[in-house]
Amino acid sequence: MRESTTTVVAAEVERALAGLDFEHVKKTYWEQNEFVCLERWLPASIVERMVAEVERVRPAIHRNYIPRHKKGGSVSYYTLVEQAPTILALYRAPAFIRFLASLTGRPLQPCPESDPHACALYFYTEPGDHIGFHFDTSYYKGARYTVLVGLVERSSSRLVCQLYKNVPGRAVEERALTTHPGTVILFNGDKLWHSITPLGENEERVSLTLEYVTDPSMHPLKRFVSNMKDAIAYFGFRRVFLDSRKATRATQ
Ligand SMILES: [Fe+2]
Repeated sequence: MRESTTTVVAAEVERALAGLDFEHVKKTYWEQNEFVCLERWLPASIVERMVAEVERVRPAIHRNYIPRHKKGGSVSYYTLVEQAPTILALYRAPAFIRFLASLTGRPLQPCPESDPHACALYFYTEPGDHIGFHFDTSYYKGARYTVLVGLVERSSSRLVCQLYKNVPGRAVEERALTTHPGTVILFNGDKLWHSITPLGENEERVSLTLEYVTDPSMHPLKRFVSNMKDAIAYFGFRRVFLDSRKATRATQ
């Protein structure tokens, strides 16, 4: 079952990539300081499967509230590995990783199995759910790149992106994006300053993020800081510390 999902997703990703004007996407990505948005790009068949997996993992949502920074729910990589084969197949699709590496000009690879953020779902389900402005800072020795995929969009929330933040001599440009199902946003985590605006009443927004790195090694102290941040701000201590040990053991 899992093997056929992998094959189906790989084929669909290759088909979607074949329909893309790669040179145009690459030019836009670099002109926008390593940020590009592919509006409603993923095929509906893959999106439908991923949305079904969103429903399957709902019982595993872990909610957090950090005053003045974030409020919302998330489901970690460890749960997705067990219950979301389509999402995993997209994350690991060789053609997709090759595309990202060509776009960025960097040797990208998925994050280690012990990283709960490697790919994760973010649920905005209660009024006021949001996340404040931040970079997707890399704790790895190499750079970290984020792929954000819209899956459920029944909200007035926007992904607000500030391009050229901290670029000397360049004015910041702000974009407020709706992450429709199938919309894919790619960026260098150290360069895009971004936030999600608060959810309104009776609204819902679910997005997926896929993280890729140029060098998956990490100093043990940074691993500890990163795990603490993930436990407090995202997935909870049990998920981060116990499941990380399980995932590491499984790959040894
Ligand atoms: Fe982010």
